[in-house]
Amino acid sequence: MRSTVATKSRIPLYDEFQREKLRAAGRFNAQLMDFVRPHVLPGVTTNELDKLVHEYTLDHGHVPACLGYKKYPKSICTSVNEVICHGIPNDVPLHEGDIVNVDLTTVVDGWYGDQSETYLVGEVSDDAKRLTQLTFESMWIGIDAVKPGGRVIDIGSAILKFARKHRLAVVREFQGHGLGEEFHQEPAVPHYPEPSSFRDVIRPGMCFTVEPMLNLGTRKGVLNKADGWTVRTADGKLSAQFEHTVFVNEDGPEILTLTQDGPQRGHVFS
Ligand code: MF3
Ligand code: CO
Ligand code: CO
Repeated sequence: MRSTVATKSRIPLYDEFQREKLRAAGRFNAQLMDFVRPHVLPGVTTNELDKLVHEYTLDHGHVPACLGYKKYPKSICTSVNEVICHGIPNDVPLHEGDIVNVDLTTVVDGWYGDQSETYLVGEVSDDAKRLTQLTFESMWIGIDAVKPGGRVIDIGSAILKFARKHRLAVVREFQGHGLGEEFHQEPAVPHYPEPSSFRDVIRPGMCFTVEPMLNLGTRKGVLNKADGWTVRTADGKLSAQFEHTVFVNEDGPEILTLTQDGPQRGHVFS
């Protein structure tokens, strides 16, 4: 017999008041990305970027979400070249020709905003530029697959199809995620057509990230056991990533982490 008790959705749905909270968190996080962007230059260390972000966040009365999360030691992730994700800032200067993903997450009044950009450090190789360009485009292709009434699997299907067309590999071990008053929650947002995401119907009120990681070589990663965080490509080839936080409205996705000065949809990296 069907219960008359309303069942709570496994995936949180947010009302207008909560959406405003998420908007504020996304807006600050994007402002933070705009603040740090001019500092991502050859010769700067990732520790210096971490310090800048940390202090700006505290100065504005907010909290860096990464610091202390599962004992993560820094306020941001900086993933250079073959690092897929969760690179820990250090004292090594960025070098002309590097690509570096800067991933920022902030807690604003208890609500999370999460985004990342891959930066070209000075002049980079054609391969690095192409990977960064196509990874950026794949994020937009994923976001365009977010349709109320559609399914979460559609996002991964669209991204994998695009990556395959360009002979790029899609990382599977790390996925997008719901966020709200928690850093990582339902739904999981795989960037490939994971069958278990077929059950997840996309509904107005959901909030999650789309954050594809694409590789020039193998999709496989290897965790650095010494630091417990850094994940590198198994073959040492380049990896890139972009991330936005997206809220699902009745008429489609609203991107909560749009920057003023960063690459916009359609940007050409040069
Ligand atoms: N910001 C990352 C994400 O997109 C998570 C970083 S967790 C950390 O989900 F602990 F490594 F910071
Ligand atoms: Co994320
Ligand atoms: Co992130």
